[in-house]
Amino acid sequence: NKPEPLKVMISGAPASGKGTQCQLITQKYGLVHIAAGDLLRAEISSGSANGNRAKEYMEKGQLVPNEIVVMMVKERLLQSDSQENGWLLDGYPRSLSQATALKEFGFQPDIFILLEVAEDNLVERVVGRRLDPVTGRIYHLKYSPPENEEIAARLTQRFDDTEEKVKLRLQTHHQNVESVLSLYEGITVKVNGNASKEDVFSQIDNALTNHIEQKNSTLGSM
Ligand code: AP5
Repeated sequence: NKPEPLKVMISGAPASGKGTQCQLITQKYGLVHIAAGDLLRAEISSGSANGNRAKEYMEKGQLVPNEIVVMMVKERLLQSDSQENGWLLDGYPRSLSQATALKEFGFQPDIFILLEVAEDNLVERVVGRRLDPVTGRIYHLKYSPPENEEIAARLTQRFDDTEEKVKLRLQTHHQNVESVLSLYEGITVKVNGNASKEDVFSQIDNALTNHIEQKNSTLGSM
């Protein structure tokens, strides 16, 4: 019998390292990475009415309304790859109403990871962040510089990655995080995100491995 696939949520302030850790987690665990922010940016690029509307909120660092976000995430979770391989939900839910909607649709995570990072580090991470549009990799001018000139020349910056906008995004995060956490109290793992990305990953890796081992031993004793 194939064991139930792993279902993970990852949360944390803007630029706390969610996307970076998700790239490491998917490499090792083969989960399907579903990032609410990436889904919204794809919608903006498509030029749709929903995309245009979402951008207005994202530029102000506010949550995009549920009628745009909730169905988008639900549909992605229901696709066969997420169902078969397990999922890693990044940046969703961000409010109690989103968490409740997800629960009503029957999506319950095994683990809820919260990345905790000091505020000064967040601002530095945001302004130095760069993205490779070809590979989707996340870089940082100081902490994860591009490997060569060719990559360096094509890096892009996100429209909401300014010091001013990250402060607004951070406010939104502080307003909502506690209520979301209250729903996942028993399965929350708090991770110190101030360390290097490898050290942060090893904390997450330990938590996921422990969870899988525990689950297997319970299954084995049944
Ligand atoms: P979203 O795209 O989710 O942005 P965010 O939450 O602000 O998070 P980021 O993507 O900015 O950061 P991250 O934590 O992934 O960090 P990263 O790994 O890149 O959301 C954007 C907007 O969309 C929201 O403001 C909202 O408007 C809307 N939205 C999204 N979800 C929504 C929802 N559910 N409902 C409604 N609206 C929603 O790392 C950052 C930088 O730091 C990188 O340069 C990286 O290289 C570097 N770095 C990472 N780890 C380390 C480390 N350990 N040490 C040093 N540097 C590091």
